[in-house]
Amino acid sequence: MEKRYKELAPPQRILLGPGPSNVDPRVLQAMSMPLVGHLDPYFLEIMDEVMELLRYVFKTGNRLTIPISGTGSAGMETSLINLVGEGDEVVVGMNGFFGQRMSEIVRRCGGTPIEVKEAWGEALKADSVEKALANSNAKVVALVHAETSTGVLQPLKEICKIVKKYDALLLADTVTSLGGVELDIDQFGVDISYSGTQKCLNCPPGLSPITLNEKTVEFVKDREGKIQSWYLDLNLIEKYWEADRFYHHTAPISMIYGLREALRIIYEEGLEKRWLQHLTASRALIKGLNAMGLETLSTKNNLPSLTAVKIPEGVTDAKVRKTLLNDFNIEIGGGLGDLKGKIWRIGLMGINACEKNVIIVLEALERTLRMEGFSVKPSEGIAAAMEVFEQ
Ligand SMILES: Cc1ncc(COP(=O)(O)O)c(C=O)c1O
Repeated sequence: MEKRYKELAPPQRILLGPGPSNVDPRVLQAMSMPLVGHLDPYFLEIMDEVMELLRYVFKTGNRLTIPISGTGSAGMETSLINLVGEGDEVVVGMNGFFGQRMSEIVRRCGGTPIEVKEAWGEALKADSVEKALANSNAKVVALVHAETSTGVLQPLKEICKIVKKYDALLLADTVTSLGGVELDIDQFGVDISYSGTQKCLNCPPGLSPITLNEKTVEFVKDREGKIQSWYLDLNLIEKYWEADRFYHHTAPISMIYGLREALRIIYEEGLEKRWLQHLTASRALIKGLNAMGLETLSTKNNLPSLTAVKIPEGVTDAKVRKTLLNDFNIEIGGGLGDLKGKIWRIGLMGINACEKNVIIVLEALERTLRMEGFSVKPSEGIAAAMEVFEQ
């Protein structure tokens, strides 16, 4: 008999891992709107509004602020391939999984990464970045603002100041910070940044918002030779998003509808209010976890959108995550690289950064840990978290 394929019926998960986060229903509705041509006057207006709203969330006046068609890694690759050529040195912050990915892409561009290393779970030090700049010919510093693999927030503002001193460009990965964690591209002095749609923006994965200032646009234009990638060449993509709308590729129209709605929600709520919601939710979560006898990976520089928590001895990582998924419908993440089996990653991103989810995950974790023989006093975590929300 011929194979029959059932209708899609995905489970309704509470996505509290490193991303994707849950999508706002308004975004899903926007994505189901009728398709128009990608050069339809209606869509051209939508493109303009998406650029305006992206400038709002990035806090920038940068003209070239657009979504790249592809996930966060496409934004990473776009940034690096446009900035780095054969023989170029690039200072790369290396204190997590995504810093490693940046370093790998620099090598693939023919460049040499000057790696500034810190232990996973520690933040980068501005002094170490300065040393690397002073002892190299690097004209670009690349770092991850919000390291999703370790739950560490980098001192971006401080490092930007150093980078300015050396007249280099600062590239910041803001995949897990945009829309949820304090970020001000212009005021911090970030020259170029890319993000992703599936974290604090509560949109499905598929686009990578990017912003670059005129200094960076000029840097890209002045580079010798052609950019290695045709699809990710910002000189070409720019022409599609500019007034002339010179055809480059067919924009993923439904994704752009979705992104516009996600950004419109943040605009209505207020960006700074969103940052505060993330901060409060993560503080409450950490207090709750500590009260249950659990420790975060780092004690300082905790990232509001993602908390990395150490797995207590004797507790099996995979078993706990499986129980959370099967019995409580909650997804949390495991560790990456060297941290595999050592940490869990709990994301509270966008609409998920709320009191209800903090309570739900603490309750589920408490019950699951008890099943694993880890002693937790009933409701102690929740009581500690509630103190933060009640303040
Ligand atoms: C900090 C960071 N950078 C880059 C990426 C890559 O993004 P994507 O998986 O959307 O390609 C991720 C994904 O989780 C991330 O967390």
